[in-house]
Amino acid sequence: MPNGTHAPAEVERPEEPVQRHTGGQTLQSRVFFRVFGLTVRGLKLLGRVTPRRRRASSLKRFTRGFYQVLSLADRRANMVFMNYGYAPLEGSPATVALDAGEERDRYCIQLYHRAASALDLRGRDVLEVGCGRGGGAAFVMKYLQPRSLTGVDFAGRAIAFCHRQHRQPGLSFRRGDAEKLPFANESFDVVLNVESSHCYPSMERFLAEVVRVLRPGGYLLFADIRAQGFREQLLEQLEQAGLIVIEEEQIAPNVLRALDLDSERKLALIESEAPPLLRASLRDFAAVKDTPIYERFRTGEWEYVRFVLQKNGRA
Ligand SMILES: C[S@@+](CC[C@H](N)C(=O)[O-])C[C@H]1O[C@@H](n2cnc3c(N)ncnc32)[C@H](O)[C@@H]1O
Repeated sequence: MPNGTHAPAEVERPEEPVQRHTGGQTLQSRVFFRVFGLTVRGLKLLGRVTPRRRRASSLKRFTRGFYQVLSLADRRANMVFMNYGYAPLEGSPATVALDAGEERDRYCIQLYHRAASALDLRGRDVLEVGCGRGGGAAFVMKYLQPRSLTGVDFAGRAIAFCHRQHRQPGLSFRRGDAEKLPFANESFDVVLNVESSHCYPSMERFLAEVVRVLRPGGYLLFADIRAQGFREQLLEQLEQAGLIVIEEEQIAPNVLRALDLDSERKLALIESEAPPLLRASLRDFAAVKDTPIYERFRTGEWEYVRFVLQKNGRA
C-alpha cells in the first residue's frame, strides 16, 4: 500500500538503489512506529545512519512485514483490494457494471478496470505484479478474460489468501519479488502493476524484470502514486528501460473523488474491525477524508499516474 511523505522541505532526492517514489519513509513505517511509540523523526534518523544497501533490504523486509500483518489482521476477508480507487468525473468513460456482491469494492475495482481495460486482454497471458489479496486479478480474469492471469506478490500470507479466496480457470498466484520475478524470459504478453511500484526499493530493477519477462511487443499497464516532481524521474526510468509510452493519464482527481465517495465505508470498516490502538493510523493509511494522506491528494502533493507502455520490438 501507499508510502508516506513529509512536507516538501523535508523531501530528499532518492539515492540509488533505494527508491523513495513518494519522497519519504514508508507509510507502513509511520503506522508501525506510531503504534510502538517511536517518532517519524527518530525513524528518519535511523534511515540516515543505515548504509544504503542495508536500507534497501530493510525497506523491503519492512514493507513485506507490513502487508503480512495486514493480511493476518483481516480474518473475515473484508479486504480483497488495497488501493485508493478510481471514480469517473464528468465526461470520463463509463464505469463497469458489477455483480451485487462486488459493489462493496466498486472504487478499487474501477481502478483496475481503468488500468487493465486499456488493452483487449482476450487470448493474452497476463502477469500481475503486486497483486496483494487478489481482488484485482480475480476481477480482470472474470471480466476481461485473458488466456491466463498469474498474480505475484512478495507477501506470502497475501498469496495464501489468494489461493483460498479466488478460484477461476486460468487464474493462479505465486509468491515472488517484483525485482526478481520467478519466471523465464518472454513468458507474458502483458504485465499489470497497480499501486505497488512505490514500495519497491529499485524501480529500475523492477522495470528491467518487466522487460525481461515480456514477449517482444508486450505491454506494461501501470498505475501508481508519485510525489509531485517524481513523475519526470519515472518518465526517465521508463525510457531507460526501453518502454515506449503509448498512453499517459493523470488520474489523481479520479482517485480523490473515489476517496471522497468511499470514505464512510472505510471509516465504518476500521471502526468495526480494527483494534482501537490501530484505528487512527489505519484511517490515515486508508486516506479517509481529512487525514494527512487524503490531504496530500487534495492539495496535489501526491499525483497518481496511469500508463500504457510497450516493450520495444515487434509483437
Ligand atoms: C497497496 S498494495 C496494492 C495491492 C493490489 N495491487 C491492490 O490494488 O489491491 C501493494 C502491494 O504490493 C506488494 N509489494 C510491495 N513490494 C513488493 C515487491 N518487492 N514484490 C512483490 N510485491 C510487492 C505488497 O505486498 C502489496 O500487496
